Amino acid sequence: MEEYKLHLGDCLDVLPTIASGSVDMILTDPPYGIGFLSNWTTHQAKIANDGFDEWLELLPLWLAEMRRVLTPQGCCCCCCGGGGGGGKTPVTALFTIEAIKHFNLIQTLVWRKFIGLGWRYRPSYENIVVLCKDKNDYNFFDETKKCSNVIEGINQEIPQNGDHPTVKPQRLMERLVHIHTQPGMTICDPFMGSGTTGVAALELGRNFIGIELDEKYFKIAQKRISQRQNRLFI
Ligand SMILES: C[S@@+](CC[C@H](N)C(=O)[O-])C[C@H]1O[C@@H](n2cnc3c(N)ncnc32)[C@H](O)[C@@H]1O
Repeated sequence: MEEYKLHLGDCLDVLPTIASGSVDMILTDPPYGIGFLSNWTTHQAKIANDGFDEWLELLPLWLAEMRRVLTPQGCCCCCCGGGGGGGKTPVTALFTIEAIKHFNLIQTLVWRKFIGLGWRYRPSYENIVVLCKDKNDYNFFDETKKCSNVIEGINQEIPQNGDHPTVKPQRLMERLVHIHTQPGMTICDPFMGSGTTGVAALELGRNFIGIELDEKYFKIAQKRISQRQNRLFI
């Protein structure tokens, strides 16, 4: 049976407590560095560490710890919203410039998340930056031989009141879990939000370590993950 551990706290405090080389995949959706406010909800909750200056300052610290906990063949998949989705702040570019000081870049995926609304260029995609430690030896388990760097057919979740404002689709996280891990491996999400990565990991028989700073989102993650565990015993 797969196992999980959820931490309420700052990932810069919690990651150092995780042994070096003990995590097979980091799958995460960090703050975007754009002061995000959802267009979908009336309750416009801010995301911690999402201001551009603080994001840029913390990024090297986050990346160094993420690299340290990964196994030699482990991969790190980071969703990059904001500029990656067509906004004016080039956060995917800035993220990548910093990330390649710590990792090798495997690919920048495009997740085609919806037909965007708005004037002129309509934001319709998000980038997912895929990184590894060793570019000649990293975990890649897709056997279809058709693994595109464009992910289509999975729409963005529209958060309802009470949901995390940037909740990711479970199927998106499952796709990445399938590609970069096998059952029994351990996945860590240091910016867990409402726990979508955890639900995806556990559904697919992987172990999960989740960290979230905001108690409100931590409680949602706890509930989603424990409800899923309870289902296993029905
Ligand atoms: C983009 S959201 C993740 C949403 C998630 N993918 C989901 O489906 O619910 C990023 C999360 O990182 C959290 N966060 C920001 N800084 C953090 C830190 N230093 N340590 C842990 N969590 C942090 C925020 O509170 C926010 O919930």
